[in-house]
Amino acid sequence: MKKQDRRSFLQFLGRTGILVGTSGVLGALSSCNENSNNTTPPTTDSTSTSLPKMDFPLKAIQATMEDDIILSEGLQYQVIVRWGDSISEADQFGFNNDYLAFIPLKDNPNEGLLWSNHEYIQELFISGFTEDDRSKKTKEQVEKEMYAVGGSIIHIKNNNGTWELVQDNELNRRITAKTMIPFDWDEPIAGATEAMGTLAGCAGGVTPWGTVLSCEENYDMFYGETDHTSPVETVHENSYYGWEKHYPQNKPEHYGWVVEVKLETGEAKKLVALGRCAHECATVFELPDKRLVVYTGDDKNDEHLYKFISSEPGSLRNGTLYVANTEKGEWVSLKYEEQEILQKNFKNQTEVLIRLREAAKLLGATPLNRPEDIEIDPETGNVLVALTNNKPKGDYLGQILKIEETNNDKTSLTFKASTFLAGGPEHGFACPDNLAFDQKGNLWFTSDISGSSIGKNQYEAYGNNGLFLVPMSGDQAGEVIQVGSAPKDAEFTGPYFSPDGKTLFLSVQHPGEQSKSLDALTSTWPDGEGNNPKPSVVAISGEALTKLMDLG
Ligand code: FEO
Ligand code: CA
Ligand code: CA
Repeated sequence: MKKQDRRSFLQFLGRTGILVGTSGVLGALSSCNENSNNTTPPTTDSTSTSLPKMDFPLKAIQATMEDDIILSEGLQYQVIVRWGDSISEADQFGFNNDYLAFIPLKDNPNEGLLWSNHEYIQELFISGFTEDDRSKKTKEQVEKEMYAVGGSIIHIKNNNGTWELVQDNELNRRITAKTMIPFDWDEPIAGATEAMGTLAGCAGGVTPWGTVLSCEENYDMFYGETDHTSPVETVHENSYYGWEKHYPQNKPEHYGWVVEVKLETGEAKKLVALGRCAHECATVFELPDKRLVVYTGDDKNDEHLYKFISSEPGSLRNGTLYVANTEKGEWVSLKYEEQEILQKNFKNQTEVLIRLREAAKLLGATPLNRPEDIEIDPETGNVLVALTNNKPKGDYLGQILKIEETNNDKTSLTFKASTFLAGGPEHGFACPDNLAFDQKGNLWFTSDISGSSIGKNQYEAYGNNGLFLVPMSGDQAGEVIQVGSAPKDAEFTGPYFSPDGKTLFLSVQHPGEQSKSLDALTSTWPDGEGNNPKPSVVAISGEALTKLMDLG
C-alpha cells in the first residue's frame, strides 16, 4: 500500500486515535485529506519521519504453488489431527474440517475442547464412488459419506509447546449426518421435530456461554431443495450427492440451519429463529443487557446478509430476524406480523424462516457477492463481512465489506456500508473468506480461490490459497501481509486463536481436491509422496507470533 493510501486507510479504520502518544502523529494524520486517493501524489510523508520505525515481526511471503504449508519466517506448523485419525475407541476424525473453536477446560488456556465442522465429502476418498450417475450409489456408500460429515469434539492439550490430541473416551465424540438433532422451535419443520444429522457445516461462532454455533451451508448438495416457483405444486430438485434415494424421509427443510452444540455433552439443537439459508457463519455479539445480536451471511451469488436481535437475555429463539438493504443502509424486519407482503405470500413465521431467501427478496434485500465470514472489529465495533466473489457479475476478486451500525449500536436498524479492503493486485489477495481478529486487534483472513481456478486466468498471480494479516495499528497498519500459503487445491479455514494468542488453530481443507483418481493425486499433503491427501487441523505458532502478542 502506498503511504498516502495508508494514512487514508488509518483514518478509514477509525483508528487514528490509537496512535496518540507515539510521537504526536495524530495531528499529522488528522490534517490529511480524508478523500485523498491513488491519483494524488504523496505530499510530505509525516508518518515516516515522525513515527519510530517499528520492525513488524511478520514478514510477507511470496505467493507460491508449492504442495505444503509455507509460512513467514518465525512461524511453524504442526498437524494436530488428520481425517481418519482415531479420536476415541469408537470414533475417527471426519473429512474436510472447516470452522474451529477452542473452548478451555476448567479455565486452563492450555487444555480444552476443539470443535471442528466437517463440511462436505469428496466421494473419491470417502466412498470410492466415481461414476456420474449417482442413482447407482449404494446405501453402504451413502452411510460412509454420512459418517464423514458433521463435526468432531476433541480434547487437546499443549504439552511444552506441542498441541496433542488426548485420547479421551468421555469427551471426544463425533456428530454425524445420522445424529438425531431436535429443532429449537414450537412447530414441526417439514413434519418433523428433529432432523437426522447435521451436514455442510461451514464456518460458525461461539456463544457467551461457551457453546458453538455450526452453520449448515450448502445443504442442497446432500438432500436437494424444494422448489416453490410453480403455483401448482412444489418440485424436489435433486441433490448432488444423491443421498435422498436411500433416506427419502430426510427433507431438504431439515437442513440449512444454524446448529448449537454443547461441547461437554455433544447435545445439539437447530436454531430455527436464525432462518434457513446457506449460512456461512453466525457471529454473536452480547449486548450490555445480555440480549444477543447475531450476524449471518447466505453464501450464494446474490444472496443476503442477516442479523438476529434477541428479545430477551441469552435467547437464540425469541427475537427478530432482519435482512440488510445495503443501498439504503437499513435492516428490514422479517417478522410476519409486521410485513403485509409476507402475510400475503406465506402461511406463518415458520414458513418465512424456512423459505428465507424468498421472503428476503420480497422485502427488497440487497443481493450481495457471496457473503462469507463475519467478524466484529474489537477496537472500532465495525462489522466486517467477506464478500468472496460473484463471477457471473464479473467480480472475480472479492472484497471485505464494512458495516458501521448507527451510533455503533448493534441493535440499530440503520447503518453505513462501504468497502473495507478490495481484493486485487494492489493488496495481493483474491476471494477473502474466513476472518479472525487476534488478541492485539489485528485482522487475519484466509482466501478461497476455487480449486479449479487456482493459478489460472484472473488468479494466476495469487498462487495457492493463503493466510493474510492486516496490522491494525503501528507503522504498517493497513498493509496486507501474506503470512501463509496452503497446499495444492486446499483452502485454509476456521482460523481461531488460543487464549494467549500465541497459537493459531487452522483447518487445511480439501488438499488434492482436483485429483481425478487415486493414481493421479494433485496433493499428498500432509504425509508426502505415496500417501493420499488428508484434510487436517494444524497449530501455527513460533517466535514471530509470540513477538506480535508481546508488542506493547
Ligand atoms: Fe463453506 Fe462459503 O464456504
Ligand atoms: Ca467459507
Ligand atoms: Ca471467523
